[in-house]
Amino acid sequence: MNSNSVHQLAFIAGFKLLAEHVLMNNEAYYPGLEGVIAGETEISTVDGGLIYRGYPIEELAEKSTFLEVAFLLLNNKLPNQEFLADFQSILSESAVVPEPVLNFLTEIPLHSSGMDSLRTGIGALAHFDSQVDESTKDANLAKAVRLLAQIPILIANRYRITKGMKTVPPNPELSFAANILYMITGKDPSALHEKAMDVSLILYAEHEFNASTFTARVITSTMSDMHSAITGAVGALKGPLHGGANERVLEVLQEVGTADNAEAWVRDAFAEKRRIMGFGHRVYKEGDPRAVILRKYCQELAEETGNQEMEKIADTIEELVRSEKGLPPNLDWPSARLYYYLGLDVELYTPLFVASRIVGWAAHVIEQAENNRLIRPRSRYTGMEKQPYKIMSDR
Ligand code: SDX
Repeated sequence: MNSNSVHQLAFIAGFKLLAEHVLMNNEAYYPGLEGVIAGETEISTVDGGLIYRGYPIEELAEKSTFLEVAFLLLNNKLPNQEFLADFQSILSESAVVPEPVLNFLTEIPLHSSGMDSLRTGIGALAHFDSQVDESTKDANLAKAVRLLAQIPILIANRYRITKGMKTVPPNPELSFAANILYMITGKDPSALHEKAMDVSLILYAEHEFNASTFTARVITSTMSDMHSAITGAVGALKGPLHGGANERVLEVLQEVGTADNAEAWVRDAFAEKRRIMGFGHRVYKEGDPRAVILRKYCQELAEETGNQEMEKIADTIEELVRSEKGLPPNLDWPSARLYYYLGLDVELYTPLFVASRIVGWAAHVIEQAENNRLIRPRSRYTGMEKQPYKIMSDR
């Protein structure tokens, strides 16, 4: 068979695969909705780097604070000094969790994870929010600000309850990032720790139609409420293919233990075809720009906390996975060790992702509600052919 006919056969086989896989009876089917544009948004884009409301993430991480970014994402403009001061004072006034919800945090079984407890806590807050079923933009903005203020209290209180420690109320004198560390650790953070936490919150805040954000939009598209959308989003973020990866990244780094063990560990993972948490991304195939930004803070904090060995482990694994699998690290790869260097326990890592992403989720809930169309895709049926009913005696 000459090479021409081989090419023709290959072309036919490839086209047949395409017809079976993507186009059949005039349907377009993309597993996992990969590459599908499922809606329009003015909030952010990952095309050409990560951009929030027109501002590149690199500039926001360097020059802005998480609170300014939260205001930007929710209000579509950076705040001036006056707006920021108002935003800060509304947040401080909203940093109150109803007593019954705080008490329930003590009733949740100790074995329940931080994410399960947070999902329950947010659901419980709905019962005490007078605007729970109001879906005007003003009502949704007010609920977003309340949740932004209340979620860190749920996270910190639940964590300290599970450790048998007294809870620490927020300190209105501290920044948002500093307050999260203060409520968790009971200590005022250093300027470097505050900045590192603040940058991680900026980087986690928003990421267009990721799985948890899309979950929030689907729930909103039925005209359900903000608390239901956010509770659903927390459930989606918990998964290890999504937000839950940052907790598993720390388990990898601790399992490897020393830089000398790193190569053997990676080769075992390759041999067993294991997914290495913190690597790969559905949309970033050349690398996650957020990981590049946060890595600098990891190096600085590792120096300050004597964790250079963990940096060496991370760099060795990153080099191998990138060079042999073509998989660059995503944001969860540096964020896990950054939180470890800040002295935070692993069960806090994905909840901290929620403390930031609540802003992106809420912005998308507001945007979906403002220009809504029920999100209801089709499915391709691959079940049993049509058949006559069988009475019991014939089964
Ligand atoms: C987040 O979407 C977002 O924007 C999410 C996020 C956000 O800000 O909201 O960025 C936050 O969730 C970051 C991702 C955190 N998750 C992880 O780190 C989990 C590990 N990563 C993977 O499971 C994976 O990379 C995904 C889920 C992130 C993306 O997977 P895709 O796009 O569905 O790619 P795939 O699973 O089809 O993988 C393609 C190939 C496969 O090889 P083959 O089966 O074709 O031979 O790459 C391999 C995969 O096996 N692969 C990996 C891998 N990720 C992909 N192999 C080993 N380790 C990995 N981490």
